[in-house]
Amino acid sequence: MKYDFGMIGLGTMGRNLLLNMADHGVNGAGFDKDATKGAQLEQEAKKGNVKGFSDVKPFIESLNTPRAVMMLVPAGKIVDDVIEELLPLLAKGDILIDGGNSHFTDTNRRVDYLESKGFHFFGMGVSGGEEGARKGPSMMPGGDKEAYAVMKPILESIAAKVDGAPCVTYIGPGASGHFVKMVHNGIEYALMQLIAETYEILRNGLALSDTEIHSVFEKWNAGRLSSFLIEITRDIFTYTEPGSNHLLVNDIKDEARAKGTGKWTSQEAMNLESPIPSIDSAVSMRDLSKYKAIRTQAAALYGKSEPIKADKDAFIKQLEDAYFFSMVITYAQGMHMLSRASAEYKYDLKLDEIAKIWRGGCIIRSKFLENIYGAYGKNKDLEHLLLDGDVQKLVQQNLPGTRTVIGAAVAAGIAIPAYSASLSYFDNFRTASMPSNLTQAQRDYFGAHTYALIGKEGVFHTQWMPK
Ligand code: 6PG
Repeated sequence: MKYDFGMIGLGTMGRNLLLNMADHGVNGAGFDKDATKGAQLEQEAKKGNVKGFSDVKPFIESLNTPRAVMMLVPAGKIVDDVIEELLPLLAKGDILIDGGNSHFTDTNRRVDYLESKGFHFFGMGVSGGEEGARKGPSMMPGGDKEAYAVMKPILESIAAKVDGAPCVTYIGPGASGHFVKMVHNGIEYALMQLIAETYEILRNGLALSDTEIHSVFEKWNAGRLSSFLIEITRDIFTYTEPGSNHLLVNDIKDEARAKGTGKWTSQEAMNLESPIPSIDSAVSMRDLSKYKAIRTQAAALYGKSEPIKADKDAFIKQLEDAYFFSMVITYAQGMHMLSRASAEYKYDLKLDEIAKIWRGGCIIRSKFLENIYGAYGKNKDLEHLLLDGDVQKLVQQNLPGTRTVIGAAVAAGIAIPAYSASLSYFDNFRTASMPSNLTQAQRDYFGAHTYALIGKEGVFHTQWMPK
């Protein structure tokens, strides 16, 4: 028996992707050094032919040629180690796919390396977690176009579908697939932070019970905020461990972990000089959450936030406006970063296509992605999402509620860094005269860095005070 596709790494994602393929008639072989993982794969397969291997040589030999092998292993050195282990066993023309969350600069290096050795290689972002992998992920492949064309039928068959369209498309050259996945994760971080801040306003600002908080998210998910992240939040506010009388979420430590893709997005945004403060604040707050001991000392010194004095129902309506507004700003920042990267790295990204494949399967899927898809579909050269006429109307409608909520939360001492970063980004974005003239004057004052003048060509320097 020969297999059509090989998977390296049979963790939940790798195993589920193979099972998904088997559902679509693709015979898959899986390799994992841990033999129990291969056994689990075979046991879970209800349809098609799948086989688990714990030795790499027979695994590779079991594949039809030219071979197609995907690695789903933790990002970093392990990917290089796997590549080195595979190379002597592969033949020229074989296709190797990195489906993990590799840093795009690592992917750049691997593209050059593997191309020089005669292999087809592409880096592909895969989003959707366990369930996405099993039932239909969103996939962002970039790199070797020829190899993608070979893999396209399989990838389209296993991808999530929205209105019949598969949530996978060729993203662009080089490491563009992993770049786009990285920005996806940055947006994921900011949306999660906004939801956490919403929770804080609901439980501490408005003193809502867990059941009331559940109702808020349930209602929101049934409306224009419908999205994967609001949906799972709704569900989290129903889950109680067997025998317990309260929600599990209340027993979880308030120290958030991160594998690093959000941080990479912020770091790279700074390299590209593409501001994404909503995402940056989410990365910072994950970090701040880890300083539990210092936070506890500070809590004793400074005290807690105050309740928000407002009509609860009316305030929750305004909070929905504020979430909608900040969600739009978050996506807008991410899309702008993609357009900057596209110009800088010559990725030739199709932002409408990216929005299209994010509508299903991935973690940031939401009803609003239809609007983003529409905006970039109408105007492929749209410089910034906030310049789209339809988006402009939505932003303006939700602004009064947003200002009320942010003002009240700030006055009550409730931390809302992602909300306020989103609003301040917007308020600066919409001004044709930022206070940066003063910054320029200061730079020139202390460092003779020069400045440019309104309506006058050239650069100037002033001796600001007599020596
Ligand atoms: C996805 C997710 C996934 C991510 C994890 C954890 O699109 O399916 O983005 O790729 O790695 O959800 O991310 P953090 O550990 O950084 O929170």
